[in-house]
Amino acid sequence: MTETSVFAVNPEVAENAWVDEAGYFRLYEQSIADPEAFWGEHGKRIHWMKPFTKVKDVSYAPDDLHIRWFQDGTTNVAYNCLDRHLATKRDDTAIIFEGDDPKDSKHISYGEAYEEVCRLANVLKAQGVRKGDRVTIYMPMVPEAAFAMLACARIGAIHSVVFGGFSPDSLANRIVDCDSNFVITADEGVRGGRKIPLKANTDKALEKCPGVDKVLVLRRTGGQIGWVEGRDLWYHEELAKVSDDCPPEEMNAEDPLFILYTSGSTGKPKGVLHTTGGYLVYASMTHQYVFDYHDGDVYWCTADVGWVTGHSYIVYGPLANGATTLVFEGVPNYPDASRFWQVVDKHKVSIFYTAPTAIRALMREGEGPVRRTSRKSLRLLGSVGEPINPEAWLWYHKVVGDERCPIVDTWWQTETGGILITPLPGATPLKPGSATRPFFGIKPVMVDADGKHLEGACEGNLCIGDSWPGQMRTVYGDHERFVQTYFSTYPNKYFTGDGARRDADGYYWITGRVDDVINVSGHRMGTAEVESALVAHAKVAEAAVVGYPHDIKGQGIYAYVTLVAGEEPSDALRKELVQWVRSEIGPIASPDLIQWAPGLPKTRSGKIMRRILRKIAENDYSNLGDTSTLADPAVVDDLIQHRQNKR
Ligand code: WTA
Repeated sequence: MTETSVFAVNPEVAENAWVDEAGYFRLYEQSIADPEAFWGEHGKRIHWMKPFTKVKDVSYAPDDLHIRWFQDGTTNVAYNCLDRHLATKRDDTAIIFEGDDPKDSKHISYGEAYEEVCRLANVLKAQGVRKGDRVTIYMPMVPEAAFAMLACARIGAIHSVVFGGFSPDSLANRIVDCDSNFVITADEGVRGGRKIPLKANTDKALEKCPGVDKVLVLRRTGGQIGWVEGRDLWYHEELAKVSDDCPPEEMNAEDPLFILYTSGSTGKPKGVLHTTGGYLVYASMTHQYVFDYHDGDVYWCTADVGWVTGHSYIVYGPLANGATTLVFEGVPNYPDASRFWQVVDKHKVSIFYTAPTAIRALMREGEGPVRRTSRKSLRLLGSVGEPINPEAWLWYHKVVGDERCPIVDTWWQTETGGILITPLPGATPLKPGSATRPFFGIKPVMVDADGKHLEGACEGNLCIGDSWPGQMRTVYGDHERFVQTYFSTYPNKYFTGDGARRDADGYYWITGRVDDVINVSGHRMGTAEVESALVAHAKVAEAAVVGYPHDIKGQGIYAYVTLVAGEEPSDALRKELVQWVRSEIGPIASPDLIQWAPGLPKTRSGKIMRRILRKIAENDYSNLGDTSTLADPAVVDDLIQHRQNKR
């Protein structure tokens, strides 16, 4: 595979697409030359109760950092996702639900979704939830998770969805951080035939959250659960008590829509805050153009609503566009490795959006499970969450897409609200492994370590030079952290935390995080979070965590652990620590490899030299750099000698 392989745009795709190559350049140039005019026009794609007259008001100056879009307009996100489509699409399918069990699926029309969201919104109101209150959603991948988000949006409550794979402790921290007093959950989730005890986890979390007074519980499995009288309410019972008439709350464009916690370089996840108008304009517009969405498509994004991809590209973008969006409860390899493609055939999916880690895992099973399905309905494939290696890209293209479907490799982040760098199917020649070009209105800027702008073909740190409507507005409750994290390293730019290369054609190749965030199976994990979980164990004195290349997960978690004096390393202790981290954070944070480290490489001032730890984990000793500044250089030799092998 050489970098020069280019897959030309398929003329048939271009002909039916929203934009072709010339169209892309024209629109892109307009969007950069006059953002006010461009977004003033495209801002009208959603319904405004009161139209905006101001388009953009942004300052990236640290002492006056603010980001406002369409600030005098009013609208409602749930209205845009549901009510607006009733006149023409009441009986069209809004959501196809495909359960973990292949026998369990159903279609939910726009009319049905509207009615249920109105009822749920009335339940929230009846329970005292008001505009601006924070509602925590800890749900399996069922349509009710989307209904819960939309019900919050309808009444102006701010939702905070917590991924169902997070532990009770992680859930509690997120509830406390945003001072949420209402939780929506289910008795149990089901994934790959296994039950996930969501209600039991919630009960445990709430021991640490005295502020929560109500828990609304969806009956998903009917399994045995604990019940707190006066606090816990059944979803189906409460919905039956209220009317389905719930007028949407008129929200200002800059009123918060949701908080979503994401990992950063410190131990504490940050509450990324997105607002109403700009977010919806951006999510719906990218969904339309990047996936070249047309009426009649069946669109499937395999993410979980617990991540931003689920927010923007399962729920808000597709529904704002009146699309049919598929909600999948299960996993790629249950009942077997053919599941994704069976679902594609069963529901005639035309647009399919998944993560490289899933592709790599399925690739390992060979072509058989794919080839024995038809996949004729597919016309477009997407990738998100981490760099896709060219080998996986080619397999996705050839085996899954029968060389017929373009692949959109979409680069973006929780913070960006929507896709920033991506091919457009009718416009962009593809290079396997490259996210290609910026979306409309996105101005990538490459800088070196000192912040110097790099021109032409180059490698450096990726920043974005100006705002776009879907950008996060602040870190909930900690605006200073927002300023520090994203706008202080390189003045007047948004710093993404990613490294990238730009080639001579102006294509971007994301190389991965340049901060202490790692990307495990497309899930963002702060190394500091795993470290603080480890050192919270009584036998651990010190821990340092880095990422290392992992065939399936992209990156694996490599932990160096120093035990407290008197404790002996053992395999049993290793297992105990893995289990400990799972219960502290969640299974996605399980260390893949733990190395016992009698000492960690530190500078004389006591700073851990992670660069060296990363090299050792990567098994790359060629370039350890200068170790002479270490307090005890012998530590490094010991670590090299006892490096753990990849499993
Ligand atoms: C990485 C997920 C390469 C990147 C939407 C980013 C990618 C982080 C891609 C954000 C891609 C996401 N190519 N890297 N197509 N998409 N990333 O917040 O490192 O969960 O900073 O948002 O994932 O992860 P997050």
